[in-house]
Amino acid sequence: MPALTDTFTLSNGVEIPKIGFGTWQIPDGPETYDSVRAALDTGYRHIDTARAYGNEASVGRAVRDSGIPRDEIFITTKCPAEVKDAEGARHAFERSSELLDLGHVDLYLIHAPWPWSDQGSDHRAGNIEVWKVFEELYDAGRTRSIGVSNFQVADLESLLGATTVVPHANQIRWFVGNTQPETTAFCRERDILVEGYSPLATGRLLDNEDIAAIAEKYGKSVAQVSIRYLLQHDVLPLPKSTTPSRIAANADVDFELSADDMAALDALRS
Ligand code: A2P
Repeated sequence: MPALTDTFTLSNGVEIPKIGFGTWQIPDGPETYDSVRAALDTGYRHIDTARAYGNEASVGRAVRDSGIPRDEIFITTKCPAEVKDAEGARHAFERSSELLDLGHVDLYLIHAPWPWSDQGSDHRAGNIEVWKVFEELYDAGRTRSIGVSNFQVADLESLLGATTVVPHANQIRWFVGNTQPETTAFCRERDILVEGYSPLATGRLLDNEDIAAIAEKYGKSVAQVSIRYLLQHDVLPLPKSTTPSRIAANADVDFELSADDMAALDALRS
């Protein structure tokens, strides 16, 4: 399926497969292992995990057991949102590397600008400190690219003003009805790839009748239209499923939504 092997190119020239397999909320152990194996068997070559998901060891084992050459697979992981100092960031990266056991990381992200327990709190200085460690890891080749997640314009501005490497990606919550226009436009202007997590709104879009009416015209499912919608906005979708048939269906998105249907989807509010 071409959508699995087509790539976006990050601002540093690194290629990233256009659809990533999301592993948020998949428990460590057989569930993560089997889902990642199913995704790799289907042809996914981009797996997204995080220290906070607790499933890096199973992701790493699935990738190693797949027998697919390491350089054909793109692995993203994330530094916990609670880590806002240099020593913590170094430690977090080493721990993720150890658990994944895949050599380098392909993309390393700051999971959020603030700890989950204190969303919106000001950690500008801490994020800059963490980012400087990310720059060191990047310069040392430990990770091929670096980025952020859940950053809005003000968070990005403070980082850009005080650091050298512009983030290569920003992973944000992005789906039909929740397209974060200001952050998306800001990223686009600075060549920061936008990655969309929860492209199905963690399943909430699946019974949306407006999307279903569009999907019917193409003989596609609501999930496929919702994922395709991100691609046509140049946003990298990270669908998550533990069901092999859905894992495959979510990558079967080589069709084109018309400009009218894109506009209709743009107008939907969730
Ligand atoms: P499951 O893992 O049981 O397949 P998101 O990608 O927005 O986080 O959404 C993930 C949710 O959507 C999960 O609950 C997943 O369930 C479900 N899901 C993923 N793909 C499909 C699909 N093609 N059809 C129906 N449900 C899906």
